[in-house]
Amino acid sequence: MTQTFPADPIRAVTHPDPYPYYAALRKGPALVRDEGLKLWIAARADTVRTVLDDVRLTVRPAGEPVPHAIAGAPAGAIFARLARMNEGDAHRAARGALVKGLGGVSIDGVFQAARREATALIERAEPGHDAPLDALAFALPVSIVAELVGLPPDDALEATVRQFVACLSPRSPPEALDRAHNAASALQAKLHALTPAGASASPLLERIVSGGLQASGEPPNALVANLLGLFSQTFEATAGLIGNTIVTLARHAEFTARLRESPSDIHAFVREVARFEPAVHNTRRFAKEQVCIEGTTLQPGDAVLVVLAAASRDEAWFDTPERFVLDRPEHPLPGFGAGRHACPGEAIARAIVCGVAIALVQSGFDFANPNLRWTYQPSANGRIPVFNSIGSHAS
Ligand code: HEM
Repeated sequence: MTQTFPADPIRAVTHPDPYPYYAALRKGPALVRDEGLKLWIAARADTVRTVLDDVRLTVRPAGEPVPHAIAGAPAGAIFARLARMNEGDAHRAARGALVKGLGGVSIDGVFQAARREATALIERAEPGHDAPLDALAFALPVSIVAELVGLPPDDALEATVRQFVACLSPRSPPEALDRAHNAASALQAKLHALTPAGASASPLLERIVSGGLQASGEPPNALVANLLGLFSQTFEATAGLIGNTIVTLARHAEFTARLRESPSDIHAFVREVARFEPAVHNTRRFAKEQVCIEGTTLQPGDAVLVVLAAASRDEAWFDTPERFVLDRPEHPLPGFGAGRHACPGEAIARAIVCGVAIALVQSGFDFANPNLRWTYQPSANGRIPVFNSIGSHAS
C-alpha cells in the first residue's frame, strides 16, 4: 500500500509510516520553517543535538513558564516546579537530585519486577480472550514507579496519572483540565504523605532527598512536584515504547522466534525498538534571545520542533538506519533526548519494557494474530499504539 507523506511533523507522529517523510526533512536545510505550524523544524541528528545543547534555547517560552490554561491552579503549581519544565538553578537542583535517586535504582530489579507483574497480569487473562495489552502498557509502568517511590499498591493510580497528564497537552479541553487539577491535588496529597521530615518511604526517595530536593514548604514543594513528575514522565512514553515493541514483534515474526530461543536478546531488541520506532517523536525549544544555528538566525520567542524520531534514523549517526538491526553497536538514543534535559529514567524505562515484552513472548502470546490491530493515540509528540482487537495467547 502506498502511503502519502503526513502534512507536517506533528501529524507525522501518528502517521502509519512517517519515516520516508522524516528522511526528506533530513535532506532539507538544517532548520526549515513551517509557516503553518509557526515552528522551525530540526530533523538531522547533529542539528537536534546542537539545539538541545544550546542554553539559549529553553524548554518553555520566556513569557509563559506555565501554560496559561493551567496557571494559578493545582496542576499549574506542579508544572511550575518540574525539572522538565525549568532551566537554570531550579532545573539543576531538581535534576541533580533525580539523577542521584534514579541512578541508584537496581535496573535488574526493575526488569524482574516488571516481568513478574506482567506474567501475573497475563496469567489472570482468560485463555482465548484479549491479552491485557492496555494494562501491560499503561498500568504496569505506573505501578513499578509507585513501588520505587514507596507508594502502596493502588489500582486507581493509573487513572489518576492519566487524568493528570492531560494538563501537559495544549489540546486538552477545559473538562479534561478540571479533572487534571483534581488528579494533581489527589496525587500531591498521596506523595506529600510520604515525605514528612525524616521519614524514608523508599531508598529512591531517600536518595532524592539526600540529593537536595527537600520537602520544605507547603505542597506542592519541589520534592512532591518532581515525584509526581516521575509518573507523568513515565506514563505515555513507556506505554508508547511497550506498544511499539509489540508492533515490531507483530511485523517481524522472526524476532519472536529468536527471543523465545534466546530471551537475553530482549535488551538489545528493546534498545533497537527505541531507536527504530521511538515513543517520543519530538520535543520543543524556545529561543530566549537571538540565536544562529547552522546559518539560520532565530529571533527571541521563535520555537523549534526537535524531531527526535528523524534523528534516530540519520545515517550520519547510524549505519543502515532504515534497517532493524539487533546487534547494533550501542549509541545514545535520540528518542531519550540529550544534553541537560536528557531522560534520567532511560535505563528504568527500558528495563520495564524488557520485562513486559519477555513476559509476553514467553507466555506464547500470538503476535502474528491477524486480529491484533492498533491505532495511534492522538498526540502531538508521542507515538503510542492502542490495541483495539483480540490478541490471544496460548492456553
Ligand atoms: C520509554 C520511556 C521514556 C522515554 C521515551 C522518555 C523520553 C524522555 C525525553 C525525550 C526527555 C527529554 C525531553 C526534552 O528534553 O525536551 C525525557 C526527560 C525526562 N524523563 Fe524520560 N522518558 C521515558 C521514561 C522515563 C521514566 C521511566 C522516567 C522516570 C522514572 C523518566 C524521567 C524523566 C525526567 C525526570 C525527565 C526530565 C529531565 C530534565 O528535564 O532534566 N522518563 N524523557
